[in-house]
Amino acid sequence: MTNFPDGFVWGAATASYQVEGAVSEDGRGPSIWDTFAHTPGRIADGSTGDVADDHYHRYAEDIRLLASLGLTAYRFSIAWPRVIPTGDGATNPAGLDFYRRLAETCLEHGVTPYATLYHWDLPQPLEDAGGWLVRDTAERFRDYAAITHAALSDVIKNWMTLNEPWCSAFLGYGNAEHAPGRTEGASALKAVHHLLLGHGLALRALRSPETSIGIALNPAPVYAASSSEADRDAARRADGLRNRLFLDPLLLGKYPSDVLEDTGMTDWFAQYDADLPVISTPMDFLGVNYYCPQTVAAPDGPITDPGKPSTLPGSENLVAVDTGLERTQMGWPIQPSSLGDVLRMVNDLAPDLPLYVTENGAAYPDEVTADGQIEDTERRSYLEQHINVCQQVISGGLPLKGYFAWTLMDNFEWSFGYSRRFGLVHVDYQTQARTIKHSGHWLRDYLTT
Ligand code: BGC
Ligand code: BGC
Ligand code: BGC
Repeated sequence: MTNFPDGFVWGAATASYQVEGAVSEDGRGPSIWDTFAHTPGRIADGSTGDVADDHYHRYAEDIRLLASLGLTAYRFSIAWPRVIPTGDGATNPAGLDFYRRLAETCLEHGVTPYATLYHWDLPQPLEDAGGWLVRDTAERFRDYAAITHAALSDVIKNWMTLNEPWCSAFLGYGNAEHAPGRTEGASALKAVHHLLLGHGLALRALRSPETSIGIALNPAPVYAASSSEADRDAARRADGLRNRLFLDPLLLGKYPSDVLEDTGMTDWFAQYDADLPVISTPMDFLGVNYYCPQTVAAPDGPITDPGKPSTLPGSENLVAVDTGLERTQMGWPIQPSSLGDVLRMVNDLAPDLPLYVTENGAAYPDEVTADGQIEDTERRSYLEQHINVCQQVISGGLPLKGYFAWTLMDNFEWSFGYSRRFGLVHVDYQTQARTIKHSGHWLRDYLTT
């Protein structure tokens, strides 16, 4: 067995649109990801989540697989458009029933369900009414959270409100890489506020003695490429948008004034100070999704890889720098020690708050050998190194309570479609056959021997 403390939670994560398929079954309404994926040019390989891993029908097999890897927790997300097809109207009992079956199947296999209420699939009618740029969406999210919790709280005790509101706001309303594909400039920051308000309202609606509630963020350590004043200022701005804009209101009850100034949003945010106590309602835990750090420079710094120009408001004159690290297929640099940095950064802000790594993993171009094996030694090494860092931070006294690999099985990787594989389990999209990769076998041996 590992040297992790008793009760440390080992799991794997997925998200509804990435795995479920069955997009028009049992009364599910359309989400912004259906619309986006069906818009030509949005997804690299022209694919959609219409079928994906067919998890909607194969969830029992998938949960058995998860349990066979020695994992005892499953982080999945609930699709809002299955529960309330129009986002704001009648509840769909068949949608809730799917998640009840899913959670019950977990429990039958000794697997604890961890449900995320929002992993990016906003009901399309709510987007048509303004999406996360309008306050009403936060209130509808609270209602959806309350309905879902009331229906499922006997089988689901661990909840996350949002997954990575940074992505929803900046990739969805900033640079159009994600649904709904809008480019709103600094107004994308309105989405940040409404997402965080939705989180706080939902948190209050879910509060009950037996329920543990958190949020999954994607904070990342931001390093300056050099000690020049210009690069250090670039790092301050990048850290502001990536980390402080979310962590400060949630954990400290205030927005970082430099970010609001840089983006010209000070006056807009000033109207909503009264929301900060709701947003900073105490949580039971914080989920950290970690993949890679960010190293940034001002444009006249030592740029070796300018990468994609960022269109995030406030991030003009800021570029990503290649520091020579090995990268995954996403182009993300591999730096396991940065997982320790990010956990310490969050712990400094909220010293007693329990932490979970709610996602961590790597994409590689897996190949199936003639005898049907997937020898993904790079992914195995990535996971092993990051798990070792988890052990170090626990030895250092941090309240880290669990680790979820991203992801249980290969799935629809957003704007990359099926061209990026992150799974512990390989999926053949023609046959839906699942095959445990070398990394999955390694994890099972690590956890069970
Ligand atoms: C996509 C296909 C993909 C399949 C996976 C479909 O919705 O359009 O490209 O291979 O799902 O199951
Ligand atoms: C998201 C996942 C995604 C993964 C890899 C995370 O930000 O929560 O849905 O698949 O990153 O890009
Ligand atoms: C990717 C998303 C991913 C996110 C992770 C983005 O750059 O495009 O797919 O989920 O990073 O933080």
